[in-house]
Amino acid sequence: MSDPIELDSYKQQIADLYSSRSSRYDKGDWHPRIAHRLIEYAKIAQGQKILDLATGTGMVAIEAAQFVGAEGRVIGIDISMGMLKQARQKAERLGLHNIEFQLADAENIDFPANTFDYIFCSSALIWMSDLLEALRLWNRFLKPDGTLGFHAFADTAFLGGVVTQKILEKYGVSLLLSKPTGTIEKCHALLQQAGFDQIEIEAEPDGNYINLEKAKGMWSGDGSFPVPGQHPHPSLQLTPEQLAQAKVEFNAELEKLQTKQGIWDDSTIFYCFGRKAA
Ligand SMILES: C[S@@+](CC[C@H](N)C(=O)[O-])C[C@H]1O[C@@H](n2cnc3c(N)ncnc32)[C@H](O)[C@@H]1O
Repeated sequence: MSDPIELDSYKQQIADLYSSRSSRYDKGDWHPRIAHRLIEYAKIAQGQKILDLATGTGMVAIEAAQFVGAEGRVIGIDISMGMLKQARQKAERLGLHNIEFQLADAENIDFPANTFDYIFCSSALIWMSDLLEALRLWNRFLKPDGTLGFHAFADTAFLGGVVTQKILEKYGVSLLLSKPTGTIEKCHALLQQAGFDQIEIEAEPDGNYINLEKAKGMWSGDGSFPVPGQHPHPSLQLTPEQLAQAKVEFNAELEKLQTKQGIWDDSTIFYCFGRKAA
């Protein structure tokens, strides 16, 4: 067991959110699929030392541990005790001895410089409070020639967020969501500024049609859940009446998007890799 850690209220909300989802997290097929794809692109090798930041239930960490073998070593860290509990149980069931999970904030960790061959951050970079500083910190822990691999999502991704964003703009509320890493160019620039070279970014269009009722459940404007990179939730500056009206407009906007197949819920992903510049 790791010692408890002190989190600010933004990170405590994220940790609580994921702990509450932790027992169901592995049930969908999307997260396992994209975590596996990140590892596939990475081409890690036996004997390597790997750090998986915001490891969650350990999808990337566990697959990496199976690859690197007994000579390799994997550390997975996360701020959510619930997610880590799932990760530890899975690793134990698989009898993996080359992996450890630690309760820690990915923006407040301290490893010796030049420690890891690979650092991953799967489906989680956007939650960091300061993306550029986080990438710079992680760069330091990579060995020379080591590689960082992470997912970013297109600024068209996640219907509920994109439509919430559009409606709240009219009320003077700007939600960042995937905007900071929402294009290949933005991801490239972030990696470059953080000291990475040999940058490779693979865009994979993804998504599916969902029905109107499900889409209406995706309103993320009421501030009850944390939003990436912004705390407190910017819509908390609106009155309850404004929020209720915004929700009505959100539903109306979704109705306009409806087609015979349903409403397209885009989840275009960027698989981003950068080598620690010499
Ligand atoms: C969408 S889940 C991704 C989990 C896993 N990497 C995967 O691919 O399935 C996001 C995870 O990021 C973690 N997280 C968010 N901010 C973090 C931080 N500052 N440090 C460590 N973990 C963090 C959450 O607790 C959650 O487990």
